[in-house]
Amino acid sequence: MRQNNLMEAIYEQLSETRFNKIKHVLETGSTNSDLILKASELSDGFLLITDYQLDGRGRKGRTWDAPPARNLIFSVLLHPRWPPERNQLVTPALALSTVEVLENLGLSASVKWPNDVMIALDDNKKIAGILAEYIQQENPVLIVGMGLNVGWPMQKDPGPPNSTSLRACGVEKNKFDLLVEILKNFEKRLIEISSENGNATFRQAHIEKSSTIGNQVKVEHVKGETIGKAVDIEKGGSLIVENEDGILSINEGDVIHLRKL
Ligand code: BTN
Repeated sequence: MRQNNLMEAIYEQLSETRFNKIKHVLETGSTNSDLILKASELSDGFLLITDYQLDGRGRKGRTWDAPPARNLIFSVLLHPRWPPERNQLVTPALALSTVEVLENLGLSASVKWPNDVMIALDDNKKIAGILAEYIQQENPVLIVGMGLNVGWPMQKDPGPPNSTSLRACGVEKNKFDLLVEILKNFEKRLIEISSENGNATFRQAHIEKSSTIGNQVKVEHVKGETIGKAVDIEKGGSLIVENEDGILSINEGDVIHLRKL
């Protein structure tokens, strides 16, 4: 399908959601960086899709690489319609939306706190990563970008450690169909986190699909390292870890699953 027709087809399917302002570019530096540059001009839900990033960025200053046209790469710009303490929920909301799509394809998927999408395969392998960036301006915005490994890496490829793709899991699915399904779910989850009741439902769903809860974990965060049992996720999205020092609420960091308890 030609690019214009393809974008029209995506638009048709997303027209009832906030993600109905769509731009597709064949190549760019980073879709998150592009939206940051235009943050004051773009309306809520603006969606930027690319086939290839030359300077894809991951969490904590890491890079995010994928060969041209193999994976799903996109960012959206959001005008938060929820209290600021819930901004942190946007990444698990997108992760959960993706998990649900992957489960419908027969894969055993989960959210690794805070926002990695994992597949239960040879232990756990990462299939998608999410980067959310908050822009403080007159009307603050959140930019949320995701890379979902659709066709790369395969087992033989020298991909990022501990990562997998849909194709490597034996699933063939058009990446734009995946995008539509993920964003339809994301729309519902964003509505959920905007209300008090919905937020409680979201927290429950997040806990159910979390592969972190119930594990002995090591969390590397700005204040150092915490080892303990991951026991809960708070309504603002923080991870609760229990150890001999007591109960700690952690709102950022990298998690290593040490063992299931
Ligand atoms: C991570 O797991 O470290 C997060 C990876 C986020 C990658 C996506 S790809 C689309 C968007 N643009 C970027 O530069 N990064 C995010």
